[in-house]
Amino acid sequence: MIIGNWKMNTARADAIALAEAVVGIAHQPATRVGICPPALWIDPIAHVLESSSILLGAQDCIGDQFGAQTGCINADMAHDAGCSMAILGHSERRARFGETSESLLPAVAAVLETGMFPVFCVGETREERESGRALDVVAQQLKPLLKAGLDVSGIVIAYEPVWAIGSGLSATRADIEEMHATVRDVVGRADALVLYGGSVSPDSADEVFSAEGVSGALVGGASLKADKFAAIVAAWERK
Ligand code: 13P
Repeated sequence: MIIGNWKMNTARADAIALAEAVVGIAHQPATRVGICPPALWIDPIAHVLESSSILLGAQDCIGDQFGAQTGCINADMAHDAGCSMAILGHSERRARFGETSESLLPAVAAVLETGMFPVFCVGETREERESGRALDVVAQQLKPLLKAGLDVSGIVIAYEPVWAIGSGLSATRADIEEMHATVRDVVGRADALVLYGGSVSPDSADEVFSAEGVSGALVGGASLKADKFAAIVAAWERK
């Protein structure tokens, strides 16, 4: 699975042009390719993706039912707009809006309820890695999902070390392997889909995908250029 997280990028016309270019990316049926545009462009892009195999996702949503929540979108809205997934708990949202795994539980449950799948993000900061706490930090980020009794078989986990995001530095193959094995141990599923995210680019993709236990990538910056995104999909398929 290769998912592009466009974050807060693209004006409307650029978003539509980029989605059209992504529709043209050749990929094998077994590779799930998806994009998560800004919420405002989900609806026009749903039309672009109609009758294509590209999955559409939201970058965030909340677990509440319809109601008085200024500025928010809920899981039903994302689903209704044509999304089949929602990223939840991205480190940028954890850092800026104080989201925690506990506070995200209603959103995870609501996303699962709609039939969409959450792409639940976890990852340590540089300081946490340097002090040897990376595995524990990620385990603690995952445990609330289990404690809440959520069906983890429907959840895609994205391991995104905070220090690797947008830095041009990917985690090493050994660190990715160790972390992805830990994630599967903690959730108790050898078959869990675990994506890696953090400076995945056409240059780093082969190395990242050579790590055992990687189920694909969550791609930020490089997903904003269709040729780079296509090169990452191609790297996945030749691994
Ligand atoms: P970059 O690929 O730009 O490092 O971003 C990764 C990311 O945060 C995807 O969610």
